Amino acid sequence: MFVEARIRDNVDLSADETKWIQDALEDLLSSPSQTFDLGEDILANQNRALLLLGHSHEAVERKVHSLKVVDYSGPKMGAICHSSDEVRIKVQTYKLYKTAESSEGLHQAEITPMPHIKFDRQWNELVFEKDFKGGLIRLMENMLRFSRNPEKRPELNPLILIHGPPGTGKTALAQGLAQKISIRLNRTFKRTKFIQIKTAAILSRFYSQSARQVSDIFTAIEEICDEDREQFVCILIDEVECIASSRESSMHGEVQDSLRVTNALLTGLDRTKTHSNIVLLCTSNMPDCLDSAFIDRCGIKLEVDFPRPPAQYEILRGRVQSLINNRHIVTNTSIPPYRDAKLEFDAEKTLPGSRLLGIVALINSVDSASSERNISGRTLAQLPGKAILCYLEDDECDLESAFRFMEKSILAENEQGMQKRGSETKDMTQVEREYIGLPGQKEGNERVSKHGWDVDRVLRSPCSHRN
Ligand SMILES: Nc1ncnc2c1ncn2[C@@H]1O[C@H](COP(=O)(O)OP(=O)(O)OP(=O)(O)O)[C@@H](O)[C@H]1O
Ligand SMILES: [Mg+2]
Repeated sequence: MFVEARIRDNVDLSADETKWIQDALEDLLSSPSQTFDLGEDILANQNRALLLLGHSHEAVERKVHSLKVVDYSGPKMGAICHSSDEVRIKVQTYKLYKTAESSEGLHQAEITPMPHIKFDRQWNELVFEKDFKGGLIRLMENMLRFSRNPEKRPELNPLILIHGPPGTGKTALAQGLAQKISIRLNRTFKRTKFIQIKTAAILSRFYSQSARQVSDIFTAIEEICDEDREQFVCILIDEVECIASSRESSMHGEVQDSLRVTNALLTGLDRTKTHSNIVLLCTSNMPDCLDSAFIDRCGIKLEVDFPRPPAQYEILRGRVQSLINNRHIVTNTSIPPYRDAKLEFDAEKTLPGSRLLGIVALINSVDSASSERNISGRTLAQLPGKAILCYLEDDECDLESAFRFMEKSILAENEQGMQKRGSETKDMTQVEREYIGLPGQKEGNERVSKHGWDVDRVLRSPCSHRN
């Protein structure tokens, strides 16, 4: 079980002190019969801190900002709670960087020392199918562990392609992964540099010299890898289709520049593969346009898709919860995870979890031919905040108002969508208008089921259990 200990910004520790804290925390947390919830921050709760760290808790708190139980990797136990009798506890200490490194000499890239404050919450906010994120961390860990030993290194290019529709979290996933690995492997790699290549700028700004630019980038990357073998170099080539477009299609047009760029990229990738401290992450929402030789070089290809209803619920829950934490929504209640919300749904339709499930059902009811709708994580993540901005007329927003604004927003967008599509469903639009004007949730739910926005249908559809 992995526990991340973030060292306070004002505390400077030597390597020995860091190791001492790490070992001491592991000892304290490993004492018999302690239980841990995945996701909990032990220091956020005084009683928990006292229980788990005993008399040392004050000393720990002076140096450590948070102590989070982040991950469990081992035989599947189906539990979100683990006991120190069953698992081995591994503590990783880290400090967050706050400033960006200058990208001197590498103008087509942004270099960030990791772990960095700007990516601090990114990984936790991302919701994917069960264990997708955990699997990705393990994959990266293994890739890097194996590549440290050149004789035993498997034939696998350290190049990962993440592809899928727009707004499904590819870029955020790559950034979050770089952050996570910089913490997870910080005993092996003492430092991490995250280099984000500005692909769009390469073609537009340096027309006719683009291939040269790409080649120079790889030369600089190789130098960075060589200068410090204890440094992990994580490269992100976002929207890789800009520099890896199919050379076959380029031949037919007057896009010789892009052909040369693709060649330079392929050569560059071949040059980096001998280095043991590098991983390249590429994203694309146009995988069909990618050059086949590029795709062939990708050691791992990962597809991300639109979130299904359970993930849709969790994305919305995360965003509503952070609006509550920031006091944009004023309430003392919190929203339960999907599993608990489903249990309370049958008993009480006005509870926050049930209300949010109703919203998920409303989103998916738009496409009557299927029980699910293709809606991106980006659209979902923006929905709660956008709804409040559009519809709030008071000084404060309570939770029920926030839910109603979200419903209004979904229905208004559906109406716009239908108008665009020629609006053959006039009746439906009228029903939606009524729904927008309804005063209470109970009544709303009745109409939801009367007109086919059936919460149960969405939640009980076979797809909603595929996780
Ligand atoms: N699965 C998800 N869980 C939580 N939030 C998500 C998810 N997918 C997307 N988001 C939200 O949408 C934002 C945009 O996602 P991101 O830019 O990573 O998408 P993308 O797949 O790279 O899109 P594009 O193909 O347009 O570049 C993220 O910062 C995050 O807030
Ligand atoms: Mg992207």
